[in-house]
Amino acid sequence: MKYTPLSSRYANMKYNRCGKSGILLPAVSLGLWHNFGSVDDFSNAKRVLFKAFDMGITHFDLANNYGPLPGTAEKNFGKILKKHFRPYRDELIISSKAGYLMWDGPYGEWGSRKYLLSSLDQSLKRMKLDYVDIFYSHRPDPNTPLEETMGALDQAVKQGKALYAGISNYSAKQTKLASHILRKLGTPCLIHQPRYSMLDRWVEDGLLNTLEEEGIGGIAFSPLAQGLLSNKYLKGVPEDSRAANPNGFLQKSAVTKEVIIKLEKLNKLALERGQSLAQMALAWVLRKPQITSVLIGARNVEQLEDSLKCLDHTEFTSAELDKIEGLLK
Ligand SMILES: NC(=O)c1ccc[n+]([C@@H]2O[C@H](COP(=O)([O-])OP(=O)(O)OC[C@H]3O[C@@H](n4cnc5c(N)ncnc54)[C@H](OP(=O)(O)O)[C@@H]3O)[C@@H](O)[C@H]2O)c1
Repeated sequence: MKYTPLSSRYANMKYNRCGKSGILLPAVSLGLWHNFGSVDDFSNAKRVLFKAFDMGITHFDLANNYGPLPGTAEKNFGKILKKHFRPYRDELIISSKAGYLMWDGPYGEWGSRKYLLSSLDQSLKRMKLDYVDIFYSHRPDPNTPLEETMGALDQAVKQGKALYAGISNYSAKQTKLASHILRKLGTPCLIHQPRYSMLDRWVEDGLLNTLEEEGIGGIAFSPLAQGLLSNKYLKGVPEDSRAANPNGFLQKSAVTKEVIIKLEKLNKLALERGQSLAQMALAWVLRKPQITSVLIGARNVEQLEDSLKCLDHTEFTSAELDKIEGLLK
């Protein structure tokens, strides 16, 4: 089957400037952490990617370890890219990361130059790419000098294997230091990828201000708290959900009575706004000017379409914001 993207694909997406860079990212980006590995349905993965590009999503986010099995999301993405997206490579922002455990021995995780650059070479091979658009340090390494980790990102850019450097899961203080090192090296930090949702607001305590001061864009991962911020758990844990998967990162134990009560109230407010809870949760993350994009996951095309409708209504009245504050306490 030949894929021809919709010619209207750029009509309805909003593109936001990433910090003080030249790059515009779609307000909604797609992550391949789940649903694209060797254990998943390849045709479904393909359908989701096609639909995403058709809807104006130009940014696909990967990492060395995405699967399961680790590496297989990049492999599957590479296959789909080669067969269907080659003519559109220059319309895409593809990212990868290194930081978590990828191979045995002392050089298979964290933040050494040895690990980061070997991992990037492996990612490029798996995706059959000459370069990624963004290469991230996936997590700060307390035992490697920050100069070495940032030096590796800078080297990747100077070698042409990445166009931009990014960091993920760095605190406000670590971000400031990393940003200063990168700027001195001549490779400003493009983007920070933190977890941010209605249920996890740590970034509001300093990181967002730092991003603004440093001119770094923000892309919020798990903006639906892995699906909790949708109506799917209101009546229990459905079989086809992340929380029902014993190998998943969302534990069934996270779906507590207390959380459900909160979700029910948020759901009611979302319905009053004329949108689903997932759509309101995404719009709420996007209300912050430092957030360039929300980085969503989608099990299927229906979820992707549903989430994308968040862009139909992103404004909040101050009364609505106050109400949400109250509900989240
Ligand atoms: N930098 C990092 O350390 C880091 C860490 C985690 C993630 N990420 C990135 O962020 C991306 C997104 O993370 P995430 O998958 O946790 O994001 P998320 O958007 O919070 O959760 C996605 C999950 O929510 C459910 N869902 C999505 N849309 C829905 C809808 N409209 N209605 C009902 N349920 C819906 C689905 O779960 P079900 O499967 O239950 O249906 C889906 O798999 C990842 O792919 C990855 O690229 C980065």
